[in-house]
Amino acid sequence: LVALLHVLLFLSGGSAEVVRDFREKCADIFANGASPTILRGDQYRQICQTLKNKVYYATLYDTNNKIPVYSAYKFNKEMKCERKNIWCIEPQLDDPEKGPNMVPGHSRQSSNQAVSDDYKHSGFDKGHLVPVYMASSQDCSDATFTLTNAAPQNLHFNRGKWRILEEKIAKELTERCLSKKNTAYIVTGVVPGKHKMNEKRNVTVNVPSHFWTAYCCLDHTKECQISRGFIGKNRNFTPENITISKLEKRLENLYKVKSFQLFSAKAFFLTNCIIC
Ligand SMILES: *[C@@H]1O[C@H](CO)[C@@H](O)[C@H](O)[C@H]1NC(C)=O
Ligand SMILES: *[C@@H]1O[C@H](CO)[C@@H](O)[C@H](O)[C@H]1NC(C)=O
Repeated sequence: LVALLHVLLFLSGGSAEVVRDFREKCADIFANGASPTILRGDQYRQICQTLKNKVYYATLYDTNNKIPVYSAYKFNKEMKCERKNIWCIEPQLDDPEKGPNMVPGHSRQSSNQAVSDDYKHSGFDKGHLVPVYMASSQDCSDATFTLTNAAPQNLHFNRGKWRILEEKIAKELTERCLSKKNTAYIVTGVVPGKHKMNEKRNVTVNVPSHFWTAYCCLDHTKECQISRGFIGKNRNFTPENITISKLEKRLENLYKVKSFQLFSAKAFFLTNCIIC
């Protein structure tokens, strides 16, 4: 029993924001409490994105490529939030003793994450995964400005077809999901590409080959009532609009994994429990 208690204490990991398991701090971000597939490997970190001690969304971060795999969030309503453009980093990725909140960071040397300076003169935008556009409060908008929620994105794509897609998805979910008092869950991710950004300046941030996003509108039966997936190369073309299962198949090939699940079936939370 004592051993088990130790395991439980270890797993609950204090009040950290970089968590051993999303479910410690941010299970409610995910449809039916279960995250999309967590890729295996030491470089992947689970972050419950926290600002002013409040959790806003969740990110699976790849510390080798210094880009996220995905960020997951709930879409509540559209609000025209101010863009303060204060970019943060995640202190716990480099020092587990640091506090749970994201903090502004520009040029600090960091081995585990990208910093603002990495993007300077690169020709790439810091492409938001959780978009400012879908933030439902100013704090929530501010919380999207962390480098762990961004990846190098073709600037024409970021400001063009991808932005248009985000707006279409927000409209679709507002009309067909939120209006019925259902809950809208979104996951947005990237696939690492072959190149690093700013290679000449020794910047080791990977430039993604693809951006993708998917939504699931959950009703009281805990099933996705409407859902859709989108994926496009990191160039300014309209992303493909496909089913969730098609997107999952595509991601299995791109991430080279046997199974990649975006949204869980009802019972997943219990069957996937790490301790039981
Ligand atoms: C994606 O395709 C579905 C099915 O054809 C359609 O209902 C939906 O409006 C499309 N969404 C976007 C954002 O293009
Ligand atoms: C890049 O890294 C290499 C190897 O560590 C080093 O020799 C070189 O001086 C660095 N270049 C710059 C521009 O920092």
